[in-house]
Amino acid sequence: MNRMAGHIRSFVLRQGRVSKAQRRYYDEMMDKVGIPYAPSPLDFDALFGRAAPRILEIGFGMGETSAAIAEASPQNDYIGVEVHTPGVGSLCKLIAERGLSNQRIIQHDAVEVLRDMIPSESFDGVHIFFPDPWPKARHHKRRLLQPPLVALLADRLKPGGYIHCATDWENYAEQILLVLSAEPSLRNTADAYAPRPAYRPLTKFEQRGLRLGHGVRDLVFRRADGELLGARASHPLF
Ligand SMILES: C[S@@+](CC[C@H](N)C(=O)[O-])C[C@H]1O[C@@H](n2cnc3c(N)ncnc32)[C@H](O)[C@@H]1O
Repeated sequence: MNRMAGHIRSFVLRQGRVSKAQRRYYDEMMDKVGIPYAPSPLDFDALFGRAAPRILEIGFGMGETSAAIAEASPQNDYIGVEVHTPGVGSLCKLIAERGLSNQRIIQHDAVEVLRDMIPSESFDGVHIFFPDPWPKARHHKRRLLQPPLVALLADRLKPGGYIHCATDWENYAEQILLVLSAEPSLRNTADAYAPRPAYRPLTKFEQRGLRLGHGVRDLVFRRADGELLGARASHPLF
């Protein structure tokens, strides 16, 4: 049985207002930078036309952080996954305005993208910044970072690749720390929370939060180098 098949979604699709600019850039750019969801493995070297370090971002929101990172690191290739059309339109606009050639977009549930489109050992890094906290206890089951997804992410990372999460919800940070620590193939790069890596820009909301004393916690784990994920073959997700 595939446990992710009927998985609980980590998002609720709301219509949301799509501005004229977002719609225009969406229509203009998605043919060029969008990768349609399909249940068949992607060939990233062919997609980007080169073999470069490759980073996945799940839930890029309006894409400001994604665009800043892609612009600052032209030597890397970035794949952003997001479900909301206004955010996808917004990142399309940033890609067009900044002429970014190293950013692609998949508009689909990241769980299905990882499961169906991404071969094992594909990524050098995964970014998950401010995932929806689902604060009510009865909604915690919707949180993205759960053991089955983390096992899937670890499989899609190259040995030595990293997972970087950031959240301002203390109780979600604690859960993420537990779940990442419990994944046998991952190692924490810090004792618990990590210093914010320089490539992650401070968001506006984070600057305000810091002034109000809300902590933002970064978690950076690496897939153990060269470790064979022997148990995976019999794992229900694979
Ligand atoms: C709280 S927002 C954070 C956005 C952005 N990372 C930031 O820091 O501003 C979380 C985003 O994750 C997206 N998301 C949640 N679950 C997702 C999934 N399974 N696949 C793709 N996107 C998802 C939501 O649509 C939302 O835009």
